[in-house]
Amino acid sequence: MNPPSTILVTGGAGFIGSHACVELLDHGYELIVVDDYSNSSSQVFSRVERVAGRFVGTVYELDIRDRRALAAVFDRHSVDAVVHFAALKAVGESTRMPVEYYDTNVGGTTTLLRAMHEHGVHHLVFSSSCSLYGDGDGDGGPLGEDAVVGPGSPYAASKWACEQILADVCRRIPGFTVMALRYFNPVGAHPSGLLGEEPRGTPDNLMPCLAQVAVGRRERLHVFGDDWDTPDGTAVRDYLHVMDTVEAHRIALEHLGDMPGMHVYNLGVGQGSSVLEVVAAFQEACGRPIPYDIAPRRPGDVRERVADATAVARDWGWRPRRNLAGMCRDAWRFQQLNPSGHAGSARQTNRKRVTSCG
Ligand code: UD1
Repeated sequence: MNPPSTILVTGGAGFIGSHACVELLDHGYELIVVDDYSNSSSQVFSRVERVAGRFVGTVYELDIRDRRALAAVFDRHSVDAVVHFAALKAVGESTRMPVEYYDTNVGGTTTLLRAMHEHGVHHLVFSSSCSLYGDGDGDGGPLGEDAVVGPGSPYAASKWACEQILADVCRRIPGFTVMALRYFNPVGAHPSGLLGEEPRGTPDNLMPCLAQVAVGRRERLHVFGDDWDTPDGTAVRDYLHVMDTVEAHRIALEHLGDMPGMHVYNLGVGQGSSVLEVVAAFQEACGRPIPYDIAPRRPGDVRERVADATAVARDWGWRPRRNLAGMCRDAWRFQQLNPSGHAGSARQTNRKRVTSCG
């Protein structure tokens, strides 16, 4: 099968979604993008267009749970496949707002599936998460796709519920194909410095925290625990450059025609870095010291989470190409060039809005 040419990207204004738009535009795909901007801004698209040197395509502001609005998008466009990023993703917040997380992440996915099926679209790349492995196997070894599942938060449980729904749909509907990509820790930014991670409010994740300390927006980094059973006592994660992450999505699209059904792949480097190793790499990238203190462990954290990503290398030949130094360099470049985020972009492009059917 030829690669699909018109792709619906949900959540295309977000961190990974916006980088994916660039990657797909660079490879000749036509895009339809939907986003509700609940954790992003439409201004990112002028930057996507600058980087890609192409019009992004038609962008709709809509909530993924809005069945009529979503159906109207499928009515208007001939979509070949969907890349589904739209979701709420803050683990801590999910413990405080579980219903909102299940409603958006699970309800949004079922609404999308219904619209896809009604319009004969049966190819999906799904944004999943390594957080559904919970504590992992406990031995600190790399986690394969068959590792024990044990979601430790409503966010992780919502991703696991989506995967189970998708597997059921693939069993029920002949020809339905899903590539579920379980990301480990995507970080970094586009090398242009125009696109990057822009969390609203106080960032939860390590890399944006580091960038904000380095640029002087935050006084110091709190390192959550130095008493883990790891070489330097700080927790170990598998950090993956966002550009490698989105390349995997583009390759996933190319493989949707290989074999129908549900396919699950880990996306990671397969190598762990401790918090202090990331701090050291970031200091090297920004050329200034990062003040930090040791704080208590963060509730819900685990000692180590590293991917066994051999399946995706074996099946698709995908391997990450960027290292931790490159991730820090690109994240730092974005932070330096955009102290107030994407809001600094001037040009607004003309967008259609669909808020209800017809
Ligand atoms: C988190 C999510 C995970 C999500 C991933 C996206 C949790 C429990 N999990 O993973 O579902 O897929 O983000 O990248 O939140 N750290 C500090 N100080 C900070 C921030 C973080 O020491 O200010 C430490 C954390 O304790 C952890 C490591 O840095 O050991 C990485 O943290 P983070 O970037 O939040 O990612 P995860 O917790 O691995």
